Amino acid sequence: MRKENMAAEKDTAAFSSDKKMKDAIAVFDSGVGGISVLRELVRIMPQEDFYFFGDSANAPYGTKSTEEVRKLTSDHVERFIAGGAKGVCIACNTATSAAVRSLRIKHPDFPIVGIEPAIKPASQFMDHPRVLVMATPMTIREEKFQKLMARFEDKADIHPLPCPGLMEYVERGLSHTPEVESFLRVLLAEYTAEGPFGPMDAVVMGCTHYPFVAAEIQKVLGENCRVFDGAEGTAREMRRRIEAAGLLNAEPSRKGNVSFFNSSDDPLKVELCKRLLDS
Ligand code: DGL
Repeated sequence: MRKENMAAEKDTAAFSSDKKMKDAIAVFDSGVGGISVLRELVRIMPQEDFYFFGDSANAPYGTKSTEEVRKLTSDHVERFIAGGAKGVCIACNTATSAAVRSLRIKHPDFPIVGIEPAIKPASQFMDHPRVLVMATPMTIREEKFQKLMARFEDKADIHPLPCPGLMEYVERGLSHTPEVESFLRVLLAEYTAEGPFGPMDAVVMGCTHYPFVAAEIQKVLGENCRVFDGAEGTAREMRRRIEAAGLLNAEPSRKGNVSFFNSSDDPLKVELCKRLLDS
């Protein structure tokens, strides 16, 4: 069973035998956004093989219930483990907040790394900054996020902003368009220099789709607003866990393979992933 663009997944067991998964690091997102993490993973571990899976058929995750996202994420991660992946990176803040804890309890010795909004560095890069955290509605309402925000409340003036509708521009390949800019101008109006809460000193990309519209966000929030993204820290943590498990590929000259899969039957999704990886 090998197809680059699998039809919406029905029989998860059928994909477990996928050879590309064996000994690769599986990277998972609700769609194409996880490519912002994959590109950091490839940069710091070019010798590794990566298996990228985007669940675009079920996207967006951010407006679903926690239970739905937990089930979808767990099913995919179990499939990667059964298929012989040597580690899993949940390159989705939403899926991480719903499922990483239970997956780690179930697989304590398997390297599973998730991503969370980079509130820590954004709150500490200057004295008491004004920090805007852009994320999905689900990420923001989850306890994991609320606890993280509470830890830095005395260090920064933190504004969480749910952004339903934003990831869809990236999913549709419309990152650098006037449409996304108009959408952002309305969404971010209160956080600009002219708005009641602005100007912001920092903005956190709390969803892995958003780095692909970071330039447009920066344009609206202004040059002086610094952009924080958790992708690099997540990639470093994945490398640390793979190394600690004794699974890091030791041939430094080896060039790893990156394969792309998507639950949507739209072939453009995989094409978009490849394009975003090179962006
Ligand atoms: N990329 C996902 C994240 O990091 C969210 C997109 C979605 O709503 O599915 O949260």
